Amino acid sequence: MRDDPAPRDIDGNPVRVGLPMAMLAELTHRCPLACPYCSNPVELTRASAELKAAEWADVFRQAAEMGVLQLHLSGGEPASRRDLAEIATAARDAGLYVNLITSGIGLTEARLRELDGVVDHIQLSLQGIDAEMADWISGYGGSFARKMQVAQWARAIGFPMTLNAVVHRQNLDRLSEMIDLAEGLDCRRIEVATVQFHGWADLNRRPLMPTQEQATRARAVVDEARQRLKGRMVIDYVPADHLASFPKSCMGGWGSTGLNVAPDGMVLPCHAAQTIKGLTFENVRDVPLARIWHDGAAFNAFRGTAWMPEPCASCERREIDFGGCRCQAMAMAGDARATDPVCSRSSLHAQLRAEAEAEAASDSTVLVYRRMTREKRG
Ligand code: SF4
Ligand code: FES
Repeated sequence: MRDDPAPRDIDGNPVRVGLPMAMLAELTHRCPLACPYCSNPVELTRASAELKAAEWADVFRQAAEMGVLQLHLSGGEPASRRDLAEIATAARDAGLYVNLITSGIGLTEARLRELDGVVDHIQLSLQGIDAEMADWISGYGGSFARKMQVAQWARAIGFPMTLNAVVHRQNLDRLSEMIDLAEGLDCRRIEVATVQFHGWADLNRRPLMPTQEQATRARAVVDEARQRLKGRMVIDYVPADHLASFPKSCMGGWGSTGLNVAPDGMVLPCHAAQTIKGLTFENVRDVPLARIWHDGAAFNAFRGTAWMPEPCASCERREIDFGGCRCQAMAMAGDARATDPVCSRSSLHAQLRAEAEAEAASDSTVLVYRRMTREKRG
């Protein structure tokens, strides 16, 4: 990384650092499910290292003071924290909009009622459209039935709800049924996100990689449903990366609008940032959140555009997608500064596409489930 830590643009001018709008608080890595595409790191944080409820309350106050408006309570499974209601109440008291991202497992009707008036919105994950698919993908028997029960309680209490459907080769053909399910649950939104092949998902590329035909059909299903449900339900769709010509602007640009706090208090520019070698991260137990945001070496590493190599450095899209995803560049190119190989202008794009097509043609259904067995010490 550069010696001069201040972010600069491609012409060497200093870049103004804005304020974060959203924060993702990973309350725990514990989770009863074992989804093979989990976004948690492969090395999971153990329960004894997690921030206590009072420490989270302090983080939320600091976040609100520095301008954060939206808080996403996530995990692992946030309901694995017995003190979830206390933590969520602290967030509400700090003045934050509180979104709970959950599989539903571990929530009871009584626990949901405790969260009524505290949590503003619930995002419920969906692994499949029936018990056979959902329980297989989640690695947890009975998860689908319990999730549907939680959805009914949440609906009866009146929580605004989004269904988060993670799609891949094994379930993408049933996308229209997922949309119907969201509609039947009176969801305001469904997010249909194709698996991002980092971390655990990277261990499952062969069983999960969607085919080009599936992606084409999924686009048509989404387009038709958007027309039909206009004004009633929003459908967000994140297609398969390897089929795109240009990458997404990951995190809306590194260190520009959002930050993540890991269960042990490490403050990260994105959930996968610890996969990037050479970055150093700070802990909110040791350093104030605002100082980490403004001055942290990891946050400044990819702000601005001065860090970009070619072809991004001279590309007209460099301030649209910021060169794509740094973690994907790290995983695929072995260099976090590289152009995201998802970009058709990357020298690695053709290889990425060929590998993905070969993986999509595999008939493997053997899943590597996310497990806590590879716990990180410390
Ligand atoms: Fe984006 Fe870089 Fe590709 Fe241009 S070359 S489109 S900036 S990733
Ligand atoms: Fe880290 Fe995209 S996931 S920058």
